[in-house]
Amino acid sequence: MIVYLNGEFVDARQASLSPFDRGFLFGDGVYEVTAVYQGCLYEWQAHAKRLFLSLQRIHLSIDLSASQLYDIGVQLLKQNELEHATFYLQISRGAVIGRRDHFFTPGLAPTVFAYVNAWPEAMLTERTSVCVQTIEDQRWQRGEIKSVNLLANTQARQTIHAQGLDEGLFVRDGLVVEGTSSNLFLVKDGVLVTPPERQYMLTGITRQVLLRLAQEHQLPTSEREITTNELAEADEIWITSTVRELRLVRELNGKAMPSHAPVYEQMRDWFNADKLRAINEMKLANEANLSDDRT
Ligand code: PDD
Repeated sequence: MIVYLNGEFVDARQASLSPFDRGFLFGDGVYEVTAVYQGCLYEWQAHAKRLFLSLQRIHLSIDLSASQLYDIGVQLLKQNELEHATFYLQISRGAVIGRRDHFFTPGLAPTVFAYVNAWPEAMLTERTSVCVQTIEDQRWQRGEIKSVNLLANTQARQTIHAQGLDEGLFVRDGLVVEGTSSNLFLVKDGVLVTPPERQYMLTGITRQVLLRLAQEHQLPTSEREITTNELAEADEIWITSTVRELRLVRELNGKAMPSHAPVYEQMRDWFNADKLRAINEMKLANEANLSDDRT
């Protein structure tokens, strides 16, 4: 596997970092995960925008532009001969060798790491439903920053995983916020409901896509708080993320959900059509670039 680390494409086994990197010592860094379908970085603009927002929020700047980061992704796909993959990008504040200060030393060279992870073709059509359980949200208040510091998320997921379940839904003050690595939607009486954007939740790109698709197809939506009682009474529950796309919940807190989920089925079709649209747009743009190069 070839990975990208600080300006170089290297064999994954040879890639190495200082143990004084603040990403390692403090979790002082941010990341993005972008889906790649047939070589197309799906919703790249939205991922890049969120990455630069996360960087800004932790007062970290890099001298790479969104299009240079995109090129790193394309180069990684080429070098690893992958078409269906996830593109992981992580930027941490860098290292001061031999020192560990909580405050940041100005002028550090950030560490930029990226790799692409093969996505089996079967994943692209996978529709496996999931079993979820609510769990107390013990995370910090800044969930809108896509920080690599995911201790509360990983601890919660482990608790869920140990029970043979697929995802935990974080509950804060009686309200359901999101999953340990996903956002949440429910359907009630034909309306698609999802919690509104706020500081302690990650504004998922998949969530944004689904809201856009609902609007384009005139499916009524509501961005509002969801109580645990409402969740228990939902007609359908879905979780969404770049890696899992959208998944239907078949069991919530040990109780089976209705097996008929017509809104979910409809949204899946719209989502698959949207991926195809993005792939075709990318192909057309590449062809236009090629013919520009020829003239
Ligand atoms: N996680 N909420 C949390 C806490 C997440 O970690 C994620 C994604 C999402 C969904 O966001 P998006 O639709 O942009 O992927 C919501 C990524 C995939 C991860 O940590 O691997």
